[in-house]
Amino acid sequence: MGVTIALLHPGAMGASVGAAAVAAGATVVWVGEGRSAATRARAGEVGLEDAGRLADALGAADAVLSVCPPHAATQVAEAVASEGFAGIYVDVNAVSPATAERVGDAVTAAGASYTDGGIVGPPAWQPGTTRLYLSGAQADAVAAWFAGGPLEAIPLSGGPTAASALKAAYAAWTKGSAALLLAVRALAGANGVEAALLDEWDRSLPELSGRSASTAARTAPKAWRFSGEMDEIADAFTAAGLPDGFHRAAAEVYGRLARFKGAGGVDAEQVLDALREPRP
Ligand SMILES: NC(=O)c1ccc[n+]([C@@H]2O[C@H](COP(=O)([O-])OP(=O)(O)OC[C@H]3O[C@@H](n4cnc5c(N)ncnc54)[C@H](OP(=O)(O)O)[C@@H]3O)[C@@H](O)[C@H]2O)c1
Repeated sequence: MGVTIALLHPGAMGASVGAAAVAAGATVVWVGEGRSAATRARAGEVGLEDAGRLADALGAADAVLSVCPPHAATQVAEAVASEGFAGIYVDVNAVSPATAERVGDAVTAAGASYTDGGIVGPPAWQPGTTRLYLSGAQADAVAAWFAGGPLEAIPLSGGPTAASALKAAYAAWTKGSAALLLAVRALAGANGVEAALLDEWDRSLPELSGRSASTAARTAPKAWRFSGEMDEIADAFTAAGLPDGFHRAAAEVYGRLARFKGAGGVDAEQVLDALREPRP
């Protein structure tokens, strides 16, 4: 018999991770209680079974896979621990190594074993697009749940939170530099020189005009959850004795864009205007 996994929760990434585990032979249940219509629809589309309440899902599961907004990772772990779950707990969220350690402490105190994870790439619907890095004593066993499916699971050597450390370093560049680019363009706008900056970029750095516009449209709908991820990354810089200010500022940039949560058809000017207004 394959492993039974309680997936918390089937978001854009989580639904694809759940589907990848099913494709590799696992049974995946999820917890409908408290979740939105969008999450219900995604879970239904990929044929995951709704166990209803957390306690019922945990009662049926050998393992928990936490795939939620980074700022909710600890709370989800504490809820699972409070049910006395004693199986394998896997947190694949974009959190700092220190938060991963706290998540691990919470679930192991209740009797579970902990595996750390970090995902790089878009939702894993196609092979070759998305990697799930894993660390900890059970990393090889967890990787086996995805063998042959579209999500490539890669056990890492290193400490128990190596996967979160790798994800933090990766996203520090991708999402950190995206926030910087938006802030730079907003700065030019605030000083009345945005058109002149775009003209200069077209002459000397021709990729930046288009990249700044597409970055604004692409990131604004997800900025609400990037903000917490940037704070996690800043914490990782602090813990490593490095300056954390880049990513504290990136958290503020994304925090100012939280109003675009889930919005479609956002244009760059709307986003840059929002960036110039401090958070309420
Ligand atoms: N999307 C990507 O391309 C991508 C890439 C790499 C890594 N990741 C990582 O994957 C994780 C999840 O991302 P995602 O794209 O699946 O996010 P998402 O589409 O926003 O989905 C988040 C899921 O978590 C639930 N949720 C929202 N607020 C919650 C809370 N406070 N407590 C518990 N659950 C909550 C949501 O349920 P409701 O619908 O009820 O709100 C939804 O089912 C994140 O850690 C992210 O960094 C994502």
